[in-house]
Amino acid sequence: MSGIEQAKMLSRRLSVLGSTGSVGVSTLDIVRHARARHGGDAFPIEALTANSNVELLAQQAREFRPNFVAVADSARRGELASALAGSGIAVASGGEAVLEAAARPAEIVMLAIVGCAGLPPALTAVKRGARLALANKECVVAGGEIFREALAASRAIVIPVDSEHSAAFQVLDFNQAHAIEKLTLTASGGPFRGWKRAQMAAVTPEQAVAHPNWSMGAKISVDSATLMNKGLELIEAHYLFALAPEQLGVIVHPQSIVHCLVAYSDGAVLAHLSAPDMRTPIAHALGWPLRISSPSARLDLAALRQLTFEEPDAACFPCLGQAVDALRAGGAAPTILNAANEVAVEAFLRRRIGFLDIPRVVEETLAQDHKTGAAADLDAVMAIDERARVIAGGICREVAA
Ligand SMILES: NC(=O)c1ccc[n+]([C@@H]2O[C@H](COP(=O)([O-])OP(=O)(O)OC[C@H]3O[C@@H](n4cnc5c(N)ncnc54)[C@H](OP(=O)(O)O)[C@@H]3O)[C@@H](O)[C@H]2O)c1
Repeated sequence: MSGIEQAKMLSRRLSVLGSTGSVGVSTLDIVRHARARHGGDAFPIEALTANSNVELLAQQAREFRPNFVAVADSARRGELASALAGSGIAVASGGEAVLEAAARPAEIVMLAIVGCAGLPPALTAVKRGARLALANKECVVAGGEIFREALAASRAIVIPVDSEHSAAFQVLDFNQAHAIEKLTLTASGGPFRGWKRAQMAAVTPEQAVAHPNWSMGAKISVDSATLMNKGLELIEAHYLFALAPEQLGVIVHPQSIVHCLVAYSDGAVLAHLSAPDMRTPIAHALGWPLRISSPSARLDLAALRQLTFEEPDAACFPCLGQAVDALRAGGAAPTILNAANEVAVEAFLRRRIGFLDIPRVVEETLAQDHKTGAAADLDAVMAIDERARVIAGGICREVAA
């Protein structure tokens, strides 16, 4: 890359929504790394946001000097304002403030918020034509068609950050879409791979979040343990890459080294490999179409010696099948599935329901919620999401009683 190209790439303004989470912290680590190599003005930060962790948010703001910081939980605004008093950094709070962070003039918006709460800021960033570095998968699953339509109507581009989708983005030949036969996403299998269903009845939140390969936030870690994460990723891949449900598959690969496989019509299969370190797909999203340096772990295949693959155990992990069914059903089903899962995972993490109750809550919510067609706009999606949360919350209370 020429010096001019590199300087232009490093001068892109960046906003990190969800900067205090696992992906957010890793994103700022890539910025720190770029500044150490190329100077303190690499990737100037426009905005940082958190839900409630004002201590870390203020610490990040003091280090990265954004123009604007927002905390979604309005009760924490005073604390954040005092922590940043005299810094010259604008402080705001509430859902509107997170939207303002997405609307501010950053070329790149890293969407590292967890859950469907990421959908409104994602659409705000897309509508103004930003580059969306997309870690949050729930916004694509819940938003579905409206997310896809907003993208098609704007000059925004999405660079996936989810490791499998980042891999697919790099391996899919978009100029020869007719030749793509199948995209297979790999799944580690989570901490309970090989377990019998009965063994999982007594699983604790501590066991469920202890992922064998990745260090991630609590919600995605539980999703990985139930395999719902892989189901959400199939739906995400459907909307991001315009692939039919029949063109999407999952294979369990416990080492998490191969992230996806793309089979072409001539029999060739192209794969993407890297060590399981989120800083690799994050660096890809910030630098694209150029490559930037990341301090991620390097791959040593000789030390690993073998990579293994197996079929997912559909009977033990019903969430994967539930997501595939929701993908095939379309309409409101993925939005309902996602909302019910968010409520069930939260209830499990709070020890109100058991691990095996998660698929039960999802299934009963899908059965109780009257099906509707695809939502026409954001308000309609949020209404479906809210209704499903109420139903799922009621089921959780029944299960817990
Ligand atoms: N972690 C990974 O390795 C990984 C890999 C692939 C994809 N992803 C996806 O990336 C997203 C983030 O995952 P994560 O593991 O980084 O999650 P996380 O560690 O739980 O962090 C979530 C971030 O979102 C903020 N947040 C939570 N609820 C919010 C709300 N209602 N409004 C505004 N902000 C809110 C949190 O703020 P507080 O800190 O104040 O709570 C935090 O900054 C998820 O969608 C996940 O599926 C993650």
